[in-house]
Amino acid sequence: MAVFHTASREETVALGRRMAAKLAPGTLVAFTGGLGMGKTAFCQGLAEGLGCTDPVSSPTFAIVNYYRGPRPLAHFDLYRIHSEDDLETAGFYEYLDQGAVVAAEWSENFADLLAAEHPVWVNILPGAGPEDRTIEIEGVEL
Ligand SMILES: Nc1ncnc2c1ncn2[C@@H]1O[C@H](COP(=O)(O)OP(=O)(O)O)[C@@H](O)[C@H]1O
Ligand SMILES: [Mg+2]
Repeated sequence: MAVFHTASREETVALGRRMAAKLAPGTLVAFTGGLGMGKTAFCQGLAEGLGCTDPVSSPTFAIVNYYRGPRPLAHFDLYRIHSEDDLETAGFYEYLDQGAVVAAEWSENFADLLAAEHPVWVNILPGAGPEDRTIEIEGVEL
């Protein structure tokens, strides 16, 4: 596991951009960490780094946002997903099979199930100050 520290939203976005360059098609990026930690900010960086041009927003109500581009990104919020059936219905496995990079916020809800996809894990923790974050990354070398 590698540990990174960011001191602003922009630094977290930049870390996401940096990770995007290292991701093979069909990779799952599984996010854990509480509300407001910067999961969606990191996903914005992923989208930018993958060359997606659609604007990134939290998929809380839609469950999934799909961003088009040369390397598409499917951005899930699993907060309100409670079963494997729900995941399947939302197209989760289809996006992976199609070779999209799939980002999943609130992956703690499905840690065991998602482990089968050999995800890159991103855990975001609060740091010392209000804009400090500790970001633990496992499964890819940055
Ligand atoms: N170092 C940081 N990294 C990411 N976001 C930060 C940071 N410092 C402050 N913020 C703020 O925290 C919030 C993170 O929001 P968001 O990315 O939607 O979090 P989440 O998806 O984890 O709920 C934003 O308001 C952002 O401006
Ligand atoms: Mg979010």
